[in-house]
Formats: sequence, structure tokens, C-alpha cells
Amino acid sequence: MTETVLLVGGGGREHAIARAVADDCALYACASNRNPGIRRLADGFETIDETDAAAVADYATDVGADIAVIGPESALAAGVADALDEAGVYAFGPRAEEARLETDKAYQREFMDENAIPGCPDYAVFDDIEAACEYIDDYDGDLAVKPVGLTGGKGVKVIGDQVTGEEAKAYLRDSDYERVVLEERLVGEEFTVQAFVANGELRTTPAVQDHKRAYEGDEGPNTGGMGSYTATGLSLPFMAEGDYDDAVDVLEAVVDALPDYKGVLYGQFMLTDAGPKVVEFNARFGDPEAMNTLPVLETPFLDVLTAARDGETLPELAFSGEATVCKYAVPDGYPTDPDAGAKVAVDEESVGDALLYYASVDEREDGLYTTTSRSFAVVGRGDSIAAAEAQAEDALAAAGDRVRIRHDIGTADLVERRIEHMAELRE
Ligand code: AMP
Ligand code: GLY
Repeated sequence: MTETVLLVGGGGREHAIARAVADDCALYACASNRNPGIRRLADGFETIDETDAAAVADYATDVGADIAVIGPESALAAGVADALDEAGVYAFGPRAEEARLETDKAYQREFMDENAIPGCPDYAVFDDIEAACEYIDDYDGDLAVKPVGLTGGKGVKVIGDQVTGEEAKAYLRDSDYERVVLEERLVGEEFTVQAFVANGELRTTPAVQDHKRAYEGDEGPNTGGMGSYTATGLSLPFMAEGDYDDAVDVLEAVVDALPDYKGVLYGQFMLTDAGPKVVEFNARFGDPEAMNTLPVLETPFLDVLTAARDGETLPELAFSGEATVCKYAVPDGYPTDPDAGAKVAVDEESVGDALLYYASVDEREDGLYTTTSRSFAVVGRGDSIAAAEAQAEDALAAAGDRVRIRHDIGTADLVERRIEHMAELRE
């Protein structure tokens, strides 16, 4: 029987999900933006606001969807998984209650505490901004300042890294945040492990390192992610033996505490001198991280989805063993002052052996144009990070100068710096 899958969301991440299932099912998709890559792969595409849970559930019913995959956190927060489940469509994505792991950073830390999940930094939750400012004054050391709600990765300020204590207090006082988490600043190298979760089980995918800062050399403001890489195995070059397994132990403890969780569980870790600590959990695939892990997944993703839905044991995952390097092309000036309206000069043919994933582009009669968000990403694959990086760069050669790319992502220099950084911390 052919399964009918509904994909919710229209970014690069969802383009990667679409490509992972399109050959094995009847695929329908809905999103607020018209992603040309997804539209080409799907049998039907409808422009629907991803946070309109009733409209998504209606569309799922109309197309006869058996399974839905939810990409963005905004949809999870809006209860899209709840609405789909209630409409009788299995949603591979947690219900709003379980997605609080991502959508409420105070809940996330309290959940870790209550369930003795390893890797939780010291933290305190404040409902009063002045009390938070006092805590900043009195705290011995640097703190990360985190509004509790979703901010697209752009709301967190780290004292001693991005801001001073005075700037952090001014930031809080100028904001309309009603609740903030202040936590111990973790120092180290960040990495992500994404797991497929259902029926009380999980299956993990290779560790990924994302690059949040806008400019090369990790300078500039935070973004949703400028690009990311994986190595040939599950671990990354700056990680020691046991670090990946320690991260998996954390994810397992979460699943043990939330036996009904279904969908992707994304652990963001800081590898510190004392091992991996939890920066945050997300309740969905990462964007860009999905573009690294799904193309090297040899097990059909549809098999994971059907096993999840049918209450079966999830399949063991097989990976190609290739390294991947993903680089986003973003409009010049992104994220502070993005210059939209540049013609997109690469396409699926011009990228050669690399993979092209569309994110936010505007489709006009004479071609695709950039918007004010991340435009498209290219993924290179190879038998080393360096080979994958070279393939991604070749594919981006025609991108033009009105988009900006972090050319340093995945280069030998940057990877070496990560290794040295960890070696220094672990001395
Ligand atoms: P989050 O939204 O919690 O992922 O935070 C966004 C970014 O802020 C993370 O990817 C880290 O780079 C940084 N960050 C968050 N929490 C901490 C922390 N406790 N220590 C250091 N950096 C942090
Ligand atoms: N790349 C970070 C995220 O998807 O949250």
C-alpha cells in the first residue's frame, strides 16, 4: 500500500525531509511560503500558515494523509500535532505539551532537574526582571540569559561572550520578557545529536556542528544557523571517545521520562572539559542539521515513520559513511538588515553532485529571488569533511555577490581550531 505523507513546513529542513521520503510515498506539503523544491517533489502543495492547526488538519484529511511530519517548532507550539492526532492522522512530532521541552526553557530545565537528566547546568528562573538583574550583579561568573519562549535562536545573550553584564541587564530591561532563565555559562564546543523517537525508543543520527554566528570566524550576531558539518562516523573530530555516547545517554533519559514522546528529539550540547552539557532540547529536526543527516541516512525514512505509527520497534539506522558540509546562502546584510530581491543564480543542475535545498525564495516569472530570510543551502558529501567542503564550495561558485556565505564552515582550518580548543580545555 502506498502511504500518503503530509509534510508541514517550507524551509531547507523540510526540503530535506521531502527528498528523504518523496520516492517512497505519495507526498503532500503545506507551508506559509512556497518552497519550489518541495513543490516539485510533492503531489500537492497548499499555502497554509503552519501555525493554523485546524487548517493543517483539514488539509491532511482532504489529501487522505496517513502520516504527517512536522518541521517547524512554531507548528508544534501551536498544537499542530495534537490537531492531526485528533483528526486520525499520525503526527511524527510531539504534542504541544511535550514540545514544551523546546518551547519553554524554564520547563526544560525544571524537567531535567525533576527527572535527574544528566548534563543540566546550574540555573535559576525569574518572573521579575529586576530580580534577574540583581542575580546578574551578585553571580560569581558568567551567565547565559534566556527568555523562556521561542526566539528563533536569537533571544539568548551570553555574558562574557556576546555581551557584558551591564549590556545583559539593559537588554532585559528594554525587553518585554516576563520570564527568563539565567544559567551558568558553558564553555566548550557545541554539537547536536538528533534522534528519531517513538514508542519509548530512540534511534540516533550522526553528531553535527552548526554555526550560529552570521560571519566568518564566529563573529557577528546569532542566526538560525549558517551551515553545519558531519564527519564520516557518528562523532566529530573534536569529540573524544565516549562523548557521543554520553550525549545519547542524555537523550535516552529524556525518552524514559517522556514515554509518549514522538518525533525528532534534538539535543544541543556544549562539550565542556567535564563532558557534554545540555544547552537546550528542540522538539524537531534542526535547520540546517536535517540537511546533513537525512542525505546520508540509507534506511528509508518512511520505514521509521511507519514503524513509529504502527507501534513497532524502530528500524536500526544505516548511514552511508560520508562526511557532509552544508552552507547556507543568505541575503547580504542578513540577519540585521537583509537585502532581498537578488536573483538566485544556482539551481539543481548547476550544483553538480552537491545537493541544493531551497529555504525562503520568492518565485517570479523569470526565476527565483532572495527574500529577507535564509535563501538556500548547498550540501557537499565526500569521504572526508575536506572533500565534502570542496564539493559544497564548487556548487556555490556561481552564487554571486548579493548572497553571503560562511566560506569557513567545514574548512580544515576551522575544524582544526575546534580540535585545539577542546584540547586546551581538556588539558
Ligand atoms: P538556545 O536557544 O538555548 O540554543 O541558545 C542559543 C545559543 O546560545 C546556543 O546555541 C549557545 O551558543 C548559546 N547558549 C545557550 N545557553 C548557553 C549556556 N548555558 N552557556 C553558553 N552558551 C549558551
Ligand atoms: N540550527 C539550530 C536549530 O535548528 O535550532
